[in-house]
Amino acid sequence: MISKSWGRNLFNTGDNKPSSLTVEERSLLYGQDAKECPSNNKDLTFVFSQSRQLDLIELEQLLYSVGWSRRPLRRVKRALDHSMLKVGLWIHDSRFPRLVGFARCTGDDVIEATVWDVAIHPFYQNSGLGKQLMAYILQNLREKRISRVTLFADPGVVDFYKSQGWTLEPKGNRCAFWYST
Ligand SMILES: CC(C)(COP(=O)(O)OP(=O)(O)OC[C@H]1O[C@@H](n2cnc3c(N)ncnc32)[C@H](O)[C@@H]1OP(=O)(O)O)[C@@H](O)C(=O)NCCC(=O)NCCS
Repeated sequence: MISKSWGRNLFNTGDNKPSSLTVEERSLLYGQDAKECPSNNKDLTFVFSQSRQLDLIELEQLLYSVGWSRRPLRRVKRALDHSMLKVGLWIHDSRFPRLVGFARCTGDDVIEATVWDVAIHPFYQNSGLGKQLMAYILQNLREKRISRVTLFADPGVVDFYKSQGWTLEPKGNRCAFWYST
C-alpha cells in the first residue's frame, strides 16, 4: 500500500517557453479542456486533451509502438467509452497534431480510480513527458476528489512510479496504491 501527498507543484518544470498556441487555436484544435504540457523541448509544443477525438488506429499504433499487443478496435472503443478519464498527449501541429502519449482511468468516478495504458511514444521518451502525463492525471483525479488511485506497473517501470512518490504494495512488487491526503 502506498500514500502520496497532493501538496507538490505538479507542473513546475522550470521551463518558461512561451506558448506557440493562441487560446483560440488550442481550444479549436484540442477542445476547451486542453492544456499545454510543460516540456524542455524548444521546438515542439505538447498539448494534453481529454476531449479531442482519438483516432483509434493512431491510438493502437502508439500502444503497439511501446510493445503492447494489438486489440480489436471495437473493444478498444467500448473500453474508452466506459473509462472515466482519457488523456491524449499531442504534438501540436496546426494541420496534423500527432498523438504521442496516452493514459486512461477506470473507476467509480467518486472514490476509486485505476490508471491504465500509460504510454509515451518511444521517440519522445525520457524527456519528462511521462512524468507530466502522470501529474496531469493525478491533478484531474484530485479535482474529482478521488481519494484512492491504483495502478499495476509492468516490472520494468516500477521505478518510474516509485520516483514519483508511488509506494509499492508491501507484499508484491507490481501493485501500487496512491491516496489523497
Ligand atoms: C513508462 C513511460 C510512460 C515513461 O515515460 P517517459 O516520458 O519516458 O518518462 P519521463 O521522461 O517522464 O521520466 C521521468 C523519470 O522517470 C525515469 N524513468 C523513465 N522510465 C523509467 C523506467 N522504465 N524505469 C525507471 N525510471 C524511469 C526517468 O529517468 C525520469 O527520471 P528523472 O526524473 O530522475 O529524470 C514510457 O517509458 C513508456 O511509455 N513505456 C512503455 C509503456 C509502459 O511500460 N507503460 C507503463 C505501463 S505500467
